[in-house]
Amino acid sequence: MILLTGGTGYIGSHTAVEFINEGYDVVLADDLSNSERRVVDRIGQITGKVPAFEELDVCDKAALDRLFRKYHIDAVVHFAGYKAVGESVAEPVKYYRNNLDSTLALLEVMKVHNCRKFIFSSSATVYGENQDVPFTEDSPAGSCTNPYGRTKFFIEQILSDCAKADPELSVVLLRYFNPIGAHESGLIGEKPNGVPNNLMPYITQTAAGIRHHLSVFGNDYDTPDGTGVRDYIHVVDLAQGHLAAYRYLCGAGKGGCHTFNLGTGKGSSVLEIIHAFEEAAGIAIPYEITERRPGDIAECYADVSKAEKILGWKAVHSLKEMCASSWNWQQKSAE
Ligand code: WQD
Repeated sequence: MILLTGGTGYIGSHTAVEFINEGYDVVLADDLSNSERRVVDRIGQITGKVPAFEELDVCDKAALDRLFRKYHIDAVVHFAGYKAVGESVAEPVKYYRNNLDSTLALLEVMKVHNCRKFIFSSSATVYGENQDVPFTEDSPAGSCTNPYGRTKFFIEQILSDCAKADPELSVVLLRYFNPIGAHESGLIGEKPNGVPNNLMPYITQTAAGIRHHLSVFGNDYDTPDGTGVRDYIHVVDLAQGHLAAYRYLCGAGKGGCHTFNLGTGKGSSVLEIIHAFEEAAGIAIPYEITERRPGDIAECYADVSKAEKILGWKAVHSLKEMCASSWNWQQKSAE
């Protein structure tokens, strides 16, 4: 059985679908602070199999111990964590306490129950700023621009140290670039609380008339059209990357800590995303150019050759599919 912490969240739920479709048994653990219980049933509707679900705080070691006694857990995919960049700047202790404690609690309980495979939901944000793109897994990491990014970087360091100390422990760090899109069914997707921080949900809410217009945060970057460039990857491709990472860990003698970028290897600007969405949805997106957002970098996109070579994984969905599926989810989730 595979434990997905944060399993009712955006990436977790899509990963649960891919694991179940591949024939694996999963159990989702989530405190529902940033997701909804009905996602469990939605995953059942999509796959024909409702996954086991345990409502718990991943920082609660006693609760984790009960889960590991109830199920035989072969591997953990750790999605649970706070992830709002702006909030992390305002409330750093909340972010360090939650994101690090949940990881440390998992590591302690996993050791007691001899569960030795750990896949971590990391982020390209660990590459920070002032780096030459495309980022490879060997690009310098740690010059993060906010506490959220630093929690990801610190957790990577913790897991690397633990894998060095315990040859039985196998770790994969997956550095996500910019996940967007939704499952084709429109039953699961990104559901930000309040005003979206991220570009795509803001675009889809503008298209739905929930937001008046999009603010484009700066067009004076050193990029082809002056707006920020990111590596947008379909969330289903990202989920498939976790499956590839799990298969890799199941291979012979995979101790140690292995890092992989999960992106497309292609950068797209904010204006390119707006135009791709307008074409996919057939809806004009009103926008205004405003000041840069503090902490933003000009360009961030991946060198994905390592995941392709070692995991045999490559993103396959197009930008049009990412935009169309995002819009489909926005329309369905409003129903
Ligand atoms: C993308 C581009 C903005 C909103 C962050 C985290 C990363 C991950 C994804 C959590 C940038 C521009 C955005 C808007 C805009 N988070 N933008 N108007 O900042 O690349 O990455 O979210 O897992 O770890 O760092 O994503 O979607 O916020 O921004 O112009 O209303 O869109 O300036 O160029 P980002 P984003």
